Amino acid sequence: MPSTPSKEPKTIPANVRLGVTEKALLDERMGELGISSVGEYVRRLIRQDGAKAGRKASAGGGERFSTPKRFLSTDLGTVWHGNSLGHFKRSKPGSVDLIVTSPPFGLVRKKSYGNEDAHLYCDWFRPFAEGIRKVLNERGSLVIDLGGAWKKGIPTRSLYHFELLLMLCDEYGFHLCQEHYWWNPSKLPTPAEWVNIRRIRVKDAINSVWWLSPTPWPKASNRRVLAPYSDAMRDLLANGYDAKMRPSGHLISKKFGKDNGGAVPPNLLAIANTESNGAYQDYCRENGFDIHPARFPALLPEYFIRMLTNPGDRVLDPFAGSCVTGMVSEALGRKWDCVEMNSGFLDGAVVRFRDGTTQGTSQPPSSYVIHTPCAVVDDDTPLPSDGGKSWHDSSASPASSSRPASSSSPSVVPSAAGLHQMASSSS
Ligand SMILES: C[S@@+](CC[C@H](N)C(=O)[O-])C[C@H]1O[C@@H](n2cnc3c(N)ncnc32)[C@H](O)[C@@H]1O
Repeated sequence: MPSTPSKEPKTIPANVRLGVTEKALLDERMGELGISSVGEYVRRLIRQDGAKAGRKASAGGGERFSTPKRFLSTDLGTVWHGNSLGHFKRSKPGSVDLIVTSPPFGLVRKKSYGNEDAHLYCDWFRPFAEGIRKVLNERGSLVIDLGGAWKKGIPTRSLYHFELLLMLCDEYGFHLCQEHYWWNPSKLPTPAEWVNIRRIRVKDAINSVWWLSPTPWPKASNRRVLAPYSDAMRDLLANGYDAKMRPSGHLISKKFGKDNGGAVPPNLLAIANTESNGAYQDYCRENGFDIHPARFPALLPEYFIRMLTNPGDRVLDPFAGSCVTGMVSEALGRKWDCVEMNSGFLDGAVVRFRDGTTQGTSQPPSSYVIHTPCAVVDDDTPLPSDGGKSWHDSSASPASSSRPASSSSPSVVPSAAGLHQMASSSS
């Protein structure tokens, strides 16, 4: 099934006469979807219907996916080599409690760029969405980690991960339980062109992690993933707290002073993905195996496995890579399946399941400094009026796009918010 040929010239008119109610419904639906033209709405319907027809054809014997082969097994789980579409096909409906995975990020079709990539990604993902919906238990959860992507050649971002989220909810009936963001403090500032050279964008340091479920009420408990209390909270627990109204209007009751063993964590997961040495990497290097280039840190699946499953529940990673999800599930006593189509990545993953070498889960707690925005403000060079676009075209830096050569050495000047704070604390 070809994807929507949205670059084709749109020359053929298609007129339709609607009743008043139909027109009202159409306007309402377009409003809900944030679509401003009837043409765009019709193209969306064509795309969705085409994709559905494509799915039916493949289920009815069009494209076949062979059953993945067992690569290794432990007491609790199995690594499968093959296409996860084949795995979904032979899996029992409702047999999985949690799918936690990081699929290949946007631009799976390398040649796609511009506005189309997001649609292509959704079209590519639909058969997986169907398989996921089939195998996932009604009280289970789907957790998808996705990095953002820049559009080719321009400093704007692809919308593919948002489109995927909308598609999973609109077409497959998933509920967005809560979006999480994985902040990687060690992320490099890329793409250098926008971030370091033209200085017109900032470092992209988060992945979106969509936590979805077929029900608004999946099994879950935040008590499983508490964060350490802050010093202020520890002090409050030790010395008591007067119930009172906060400036925000929230009443902080006596119950606030109860020790629950830790603080409810935010939906920002701060995990540095810096591991370059360890049993897995050593094993790959010693044996000449590929080190998977896009691993997620063990703490990411660990957080969701702890919060969303009980020991003995079944976890699946259909895009398993180096099988981090399997390793963590094994350590936490969950049953698990990992499916990976590239056997080169599985050769190295073997070491994660060797007797005595299964790596533990929780790392020792660590913390990071998050600066308030505008903590250092040292440049009042006029903004580039063309958004930095002309940088390439001039051999000398355009005055408006760069810092002037004569500019004095950077000095740390409090931001407006900082000044306000200083003012209020001295008043
Ligand atoms: C982002 S990586 C996952 C990395 C993994 N989370 C880890 O930490 O090692 C995505 C993986 O999905 C695999 N993959 C892509 N399509 C697949 C399919 N249809 N079936 C199974 N694996 C697939 C790719 O080979 C790649 O290793």
